[in-house]
Amino acid sequence: MSVLVQPLPDVNPLQDSLRFARRVPPCAIVIFGASGDLSKRKLLPSLYRLFYERRISQNFAVIGSSRTAMSDEQFRERMRESVSKFLEDAPFDEDVWKSFAQCLFYVAGDLSEEASYERLKSKLDEVEKSHQTGGNVLFYLSTQPSYYAEAIRKLGAHQLHKGNGWRRVIIEKPFGHDLASARKLNEEIHQVLVESDVYRIDHYLGKETVQNILAFRFGNGIFEPLWNRRYVDNVQITAAESIGVEGRGGYYQEAGALRDMIQNHLSQVMATIAMEPPTVFDAANVRDERAKLLRAVRVVKPDDVAKYAVAGQYGPANVGGQDILGFRQEPSVDPNAQTDTYAAVTFFIDNWRWADVPFYIRTGKRMPKRVTDIAIQFNAPPLGLFSQETKGGLREARPNLLVLRIQPEEGISLRFLSKSPGSGMRVRPVSMDFNYGSSFGERTPTAYETLLVDAMAGDPTLYTRQDMVDASWQIVQPILDVWGNSKFDFPNYPAGTWGPKASDEMLARQGHVWRVP
Ligand code: BG6
Repeated sequence: MSVLVQPLPDVNPLQDSLRFARRVPPCAIVIFGASGDLSKRKLLPSLYRLFYERRISQNFAVIGSSRTAMSDEQFRERMRESVSKFLEDAPFDEDVWKSFAQCLFYVAGDLSEEASYERLKSKLDEVEKSHQTGGNVLFYLSTQPSYYAEAIRKLGAHQLHKGNGWRRVIIEKPFGHDLASARKLNEEIHQVLVESDVYRIDHYLGKETVQNILAFRFGNGIFEPLWNRRYVDNVQITAAESIGVEGRGGYYQEAGALRDMIQNHLSQVMATIAMEPPTVFDAANVRDERAKLLRAVRVVKPDDVAKYAVAGQYGPANVGGQDILGFRQEPSVDPNAQTDTYAAVTFFIDNWRWADVPFYIRTGKRMPKRVTDIAIQFNAPPLGLFSQETKGGLREARPNLLVLRIQPEEGISLRFLSKSPGSGMRVRPVSMDFNYGSSFGERTPTAYETLLVDAMAGDPTLYTRQDMVDASWQIVQPILDVWGNSKFDFPNYPAGTWGPKASDEMLARQGHVWRVP
């Protein structure tokens, strides 16, 4: 059975206008690391798109900065190529580009040199006059993370952290390499900036479907009563990628899947799924609840790490007729690398709502397909009245499964048992589906569009706060420590498969199986 869910007319246009039709003040955006990948693939295409849709003020300017020497014109030309190539689901319009390009500037500079900041300061003064940016400046740190602390210190030393208008700083992930370095970075940042001017980005929180988890849970009355240990058997969060490390071998070798995805994106998704309802939908309350949830996650003891966490690394394989390199054969990767390209963790949340409900999180590169979803498995009914008539064992013993699909086919589906037509009482699982694309039929903004607008508008709801980052490092740190001192027998899964056997065994010990997404 499939039900097409049609959106109803806006019930509360006032509330809509608060978040979506928000007014974004004039400002200048300084991108450090402007010649890097993130800037080309995400930031400039998002800014162009926001400009095209007039969702940001036309009084704005972008100042790109990196070490490469370039004129404004050369920067514009480079960005033109990237924007036309990486613009998602949207046409590239030459006329709009011409106006947009007039807002792009470039300042070459090394972040460790004082002179770079003075040049930047003069450029900011210039654009403030020419583009009437009102003295508001949003700095975006998208450089090598090892520069973050120094760049912020120097922004302070050159008085760039304050001025006529507001000053805010977006900091890209990774925020620290471990708990200690994240804490140190926070301290260094706070010597110059107050917390309300710090925007730590986690682009998963900006994804429409992740935001929709809150609407689904707290905008409806029928799900929340079931959303607890009495009715939920287990929760599975999967973020599988079919791609490998895509030329980022050097970075990834040092990071690994647990750091790259679970410490940040997926623990934030877990917090969104499991947090308590905020009393008011504003930045402070939403972030308080997320932080509270993360603090309630049990910190595993070193001796239990092997029981609750599994590391994997892909080896070479032939996938669909194509030879795929193993991780250790990727460029810039050590042939003996101990990096986890797959990580699966069982978390327990020690609070009244979730005590004893396992939250299984897994992520990996070179999985059979790209899919991110959350599966909430509800308990079996108290009596298995139809169980003799049902084939399939474990899966059908617990027929009710709610799947929130984050990407790529965004939507929500609920599985339940239904009588099969005909005589006798044979039952089989069917599902009720909501699909974003067919229900709304309009383009959804990318996470970076949403988050950039939020930062310009001064709304940090979807950005992480110091205590959230601290708590999410605390829950992965014991695992990182134990893994850091282990010698794994890698590779332990072939490219194009669902990860190592040990991961299935981890769930089997609790009487569970991974769902096939
Ligand atoms: C990034 C990771 O933060 O998120 C990448 O560093 C990963 O390794 C990416 O591929 C996944 O993001 P998305 O939006 O494609 O799911």
